[in-house]
Amino acid sequence: MQKSERVNFGSKIGAVLAAAGSAVGLGNIWRFPYETGNHGGAAFILVYLACVLMLGMPIMIAEFTVGRHSKASTGRAYKVLAPGTHWKWLGYLGVLAGFLILGYYSVVAGWTLEYILEAGVNDGIEKSSKVLMPVLFILIVVLVGCSLSLPNAEKGLEFLLKPDFSKVNGDVFLGAMGQAFFSLSLGMGCLSTYASYFGKETKLGNTALSVGVIDTFVAVLAGLIIFPAAFSVGIQPDAGPSLIFITLPNVFQQAFSGVPILAYIFSVMFYVLLALAALTSTISLHEVVTAFLHEEFNLTRGRAARLVTFGCIIIGVISSLSLGVMQKYTLFDKGFFDLLDFVTAKIMLPLGGLLVCIFVGWYLKRSVSYEELTNGGKLKAGLFNLYIFLLRYVAPVAIILIFINELGLI
Ligand code: PFF
Repeated sequence: MQKSERVNFGSKIGAVLAAAGSAVGLGNIWRFPYETGNHGGAAFILVYLACVLMLGMPIMIAEFTVGRHSKASTGRAYKVLAPGTHWKWLGYLGVLAGFLILGYYSVVAGWTLEYILEAGVNDGIEKSSKVLMPVLFILIVVLVGCSLSLPNAEKGLEFLLKPDFSKVNGDVFLGAMGQAFFSLSLGMGCLSTYASYFGKETKLGNTALSVGVIDTFVAVLAGLIIFPAAFSVGIQPDAGPSLIFITLPNVFQQAFSGVPILAYIFSVMFYVLLALAALTSTISLHEVVTAFLHEEFNLTRGRAARLVTFGCIIIGVISSLSLGVMQKYTLFDKGFFDLLDFVTAKIMLPLGGLLVCIFVGWYLKRSVSYEELTNGGKLKAGLFNLYIFLLRYVAPVAIILIFINELGLI
């Protein structure tokens, strides 16, 4: 549906908010702590930060470039920018990745809802994210304070801040790279689809930096809530996907042990806001697949959306059951939930990112990148050469090396 006029995000801050809404989600608060826990703590975080800076930032700008320049969602963008070539498959790869992520992401979002319901509240979810995201942030900071005040919290802090480099191996690199892509919503055309709605004044470099900083900040704060508390109550940091759900109830109970009503209020608020953060990310995933079906198969948006939801329920049910009654069915030693998580975050997203690097860095004309980064020459192009260098050489080589290493070839 490439109508003549494409509506743009209203305000300048709109672009950052929308992209940050997609980026900040369960990936920061649920996935980051459990991956950090599985991979030994501080050293993983350092590798993660390097991945955000050297892969995440240039690839985010590249995706913005693809989206804004083509003014099309990811399913069509490559057909617009590289008509008659195989690059369209890069768009399709993203759509498939989005669909698969949606399938298991909604399972975890469901756990969040379950915790809200357990606390006895199921309304009040409809508040605008402009108000609620800052509230989530304040709440996170309060919870960091609570968690740090628990007995033995310093052990958790040490785990987060004192790197043990003997724990760094190929898996740490693959895990950190996958987490960076997942958390920043990169490698599947989600932010590129959003960027097709950016106005011509939106500064791509600044927007990418803001999203990267906000996203990383929330993830690190989530770590500061989870690990001091986990060490304090004796939960193993490598407990896996259930880590935050077994740790958090302890934080609420212990930190407010004298005033149960506060424990109640804080836990309800936290889970409601976590569900909202998950919702904005879910919407962004849903949009990629819905837009694709809508444009490619001439379905109405409503029909396309229902189809995506239906498919996602099926994947969701299977991945949820794979953690319970269907636990014994495994492939490569992984249940369906773990397999989806592995294949999407650690293979499909980095592969999508690698191809975006090659597309924007090598295939597209340099002048297109220049035009997009400087808004047609209006902005200073100070870091342009650094950006192109990262995009052409550093990011693709790093991704390929991490892949090759994982295959055991080096
Ligand atoms: N970035 C989201 C999170 O951290 O929860 C998850 C996500 C959303 C991944 C959109 C990929 C995506 F395209």
